[in-house]
Amino acid sequence: MDKEYITLPKKDIPQRWYNVLADLPVPLPPPLNPGTGKPLGPQDLAPIFPMSLIQQEMSQEKWIDIPNEILDVYKIWRPAPLHRATRLEKALKTKTRIYYKNESLSPAGSHKPNTAVAQAYYNKKEGVKRICTETGAGQWGSAISFACKVFGLKCTVYMVRVSYEQKPYRKSLMRVWGADVYASPTNLTKSGKAILAQDPNSPGSLGMAISEAVEDAAMHDDAKYALGSVLNHVLLHQTVIGLETKKQLEMIGEAPDVLIGCVGGGSNFAGLCLPFIQDKIKGKKIKIIAVEPTACPTITKGLYEYDFGDTAELTPLVKMYTLGHSFVPPGIHAGGLRYHGMAPIVSLLAKQGLIEAKAYAQNPVFEAGILFAETEGLLPAPEASHAIKCAIDEAKKNEDKCVVFNYSGHGFFDLSAYDAYLDNKLEDYEYPEEKIKEALKNTPKI
Ligand SMILES: Cc1ncc(COP(=O)(O)O)c(C=O)c1O
Repeated sequence: MDKEYITLPKKDIPQRWYNVLADLPVPLPPPLNPGTGKPLGPQDLAPIFPMSLIQQEMSQEKWIDIPNEILDVYKIWRPAPLHRATRLEKALKTKTRIYYKNESLSPAGSHKPNTAVAQAYYNKKEGVKRICTETGAGQWGSAISFACKVFGLKCTVYMVRVSYEQKPYRKSLMRVWGADVYASPTNLTKSGKAILAQDPNSPGSLGMAISEAVEDAAMHDDAKYALGSVLNHVLLHQTVIGLETKKQLEMIGEAPDVLIGCVGGGSNFAGLCLPFIQDKIKGKKIKIIAVEPTACPTITKGLYEYDFGDTAELTPLVKMYTLGHSFVPPGIHAGGLRYHGMAPIVSLLAKQGLIEAKAYAQNPVFEAGILFAETEGLLPAPEASHAIKCAIDEAKKNEDKCVVFNYSGHGFFDLSAYDAYLDNKLEDYEYPEEKIKEALKNTPKI
């Protein structure tokens, strides 16, 4: 048995997703209708999501079967290998054992296809013709473009303008898979026009792009909306990551002392960690760390409140850590982490003290990413480098421990960001305290 590159046979792709809602120590606060302040029913979500995903969003079933059509597509890249980072360990002169789950081998290069394929499948099954979505760094946009191509759906992507300009080749990849891609805010939607009227040079944000995509879906009968993170059903689909990792660690006689994932909306972190939460609730000592940028410090500096998921206030209200839905994070290169909110499940776990959070500025994060590329050979996405930085800091304590992090994606489309770092042009944004204070004044009072 190879203890450094741990693979599973195809038959060990998980056949069921794990639903943590069945095991949470306290119930998740329900999403609310912003008009009435009352909890949402399935019908409230029907204009933008197919019913099977709404049912998954609200399900309390502990295990949900993965349909064969989805497993067939998962087989392209799953099960994903678990690597031991022996060369990185050596460079750090640590006795800590560092492992990483490699989610970069999917067609789009990240964990995002785990849910994109599932979402496209259920939409197709319910007769939807087109999916509207937002994307930050372009990882989610390319994942859903791929999934729509697989199941014969059209795809419209609103891509945050700053990333559209920083990462033009992500847009090319989406177009290869047949999607229409627009730099958000656009002039195509009411919400986009309103934002541009206030600030014609707006860099965009995930909150703005979500408003545009939701509006597009709500205005067209044959279209639905898909979100790449945050929602319960998205986190559910991502649990294949942690379920495989658990099996792989068991095979080599390991158990994690520390689990680490970066957090934008929380999906790759949750995908890795949720299958281990049950063990923690039962008393196992596992430190679980969510890593975010100091430029967008949702858990470390935000408030746990009901807020909108988007800028134009079109979404339901969800209870989450938030920096305020009008907050526009600085244009850091980890575009996938520029979101004002956090998944309600991840937020509740943080509130309950079952997970903790840490924030890093982008220069030390890139430094960690480069050390990883030098030692392990793989070039990380800037988002994944947040997890790497934290894993390095944990390993530097030089304890006899097992640290596992999620390598959520590769950085082959982030080379301009690496150039900027290597040319000393990367700015470390201070914690934007005043802007966040201002934005937090605008959260709805529930
Ligand atoms: C490679 C990668 N990792 C992490 C993230 C953050 O998203 P999430 O918190 O939903 O995993 C993104 C988002 O685009 C991403 O592209």
